[in-house]
Amino acid sequence: MNKIKASITGVQGYVPDYILTNEELATLVDTNDEWIMSRTGIKERRILKGKDKGTSVLGIEAVKGLLKKTGTTAAEIDLIICATTTPDMLFPATANIISDAVGAINAFSFDLQAACSGFLFALTTASQYIETGKHKKVIVVGADKMSSIIDYTDRTTCIIFGDGGGAVLLEPTTEDIGIKDTLLRTNGSGAAHLHMKAGGSRRPASQETLLAKEHFVYQEGAAVFKFAVTNMAEVSAKIMERNNLVAEDIAWLVPHQANKRIIDATAQRMGVGNEKVMLNIHKYGNTTSGTIPLCLWEYESQLRKGDNLILAAFGGGFTWGAIYVTWGYDGSKV
Ligand code: UT7
Repeated sequence: MNKIKASITGVQGYVPDYILTNEELATLVDTNDEWIMSRTGIKERRILKGKDKGTSVLGIEAVKGLLKKTGTTAAEIDLIICATTTPDMLFPATANIISDAVGAINAFSFDLQAACSGFLFALTTASQYIETGKHKKVIVVGADKMSSIIDYTDRTTCIIFGDGGGAVLLEPTTEDIGIKDTLLRTNGSGAAHLHMKAGGSRRPASQETLLAKEHFVYQEGAAVFKFAVTNMAEVSAKIMERNNLVAEDIAWLVPHQANKRIIDATAQRMGVGNEKVMLNIHKYGNTTSGTIPLCLWEYESQLRKGDNLILAAFGGGFTWGAIYVTWGYDGSKV
């Protein structure tokens, strides 16, 4: 009998309504549309407004839509993993809040944090629960309310990030589709270049940390850019090579949307033309764990059964990786 693999059988995204444009950002900090577009490719991003609304709001909407479009009842779900760097609270897990809100009464759930690579780390973890044969329906959520940890007086970070998320359903298959290979990497020394200084057990929130603005993303952009360009391209090329894939075999590159220049460099290294690259950075910016499921959702109608996809990401940690997936169905489920 063929080995059980995890196949993506549905995808749904969710972005909040409020659009924060480059023009509005230019009223907050010393920047302009031309600089932001040419250095990042971002035109606008979404912001989740409203009191006491956390990342779970994004995940709940995505999961509700996913259940509906795949004809799945919440009670059938075995497991929900939520990749996020901006959980509603330090505990309990945002995945538990999502699970409760959608009525996934038979599921266990947990969060996974790997910054911008979170969705890939969670997808890999989830696929292994399916491959054991014990779990039949697993949901992976990737969602972040990045606006909750961004300093809107810092022009080097506030232009990049936005809020949004998505979710995929994984089910077992013995067909020649599904998640075929994953390659994940971590280098903890990268923490120096991209981190949040306070709010964890090392530096709990205090008047001092608040005044020092230590509850915001700290990023040395140029250093992160250098690592991202090299490593995202490297890992994408490597996963193709070890699966004997050439550019013509790839239907789509699904890259983390951090910077258009990093995406272009990755596609170039893989030899993949621009027409095969999923792109929505101009509309949503960097939604951290949300970028890849949001891309899959927006391009779902163009996907065909048998399409080979390379998912690739780089982020804080440093974390990075690539996943080789053969898509399992034609067009949009709705
Ligand atoms: O997804 C998680 C991982 N994160 C990433 O992948 C992000 C990687 N890094 C980047 O995408 C880029 O480094 C940034 C978009 C963050 C910055 O672009 P850059 O081309 O690396 O700019 P830079 O930091 O080297 O700054 C160049 C200049 C500086 O001015 P001086 O010192 O040359 O006079 C900055 O002060 O651009 C200035 N600058 C800005 N100017 C207008 C920085 N931010 C802005 C801004 N508007 N928003």
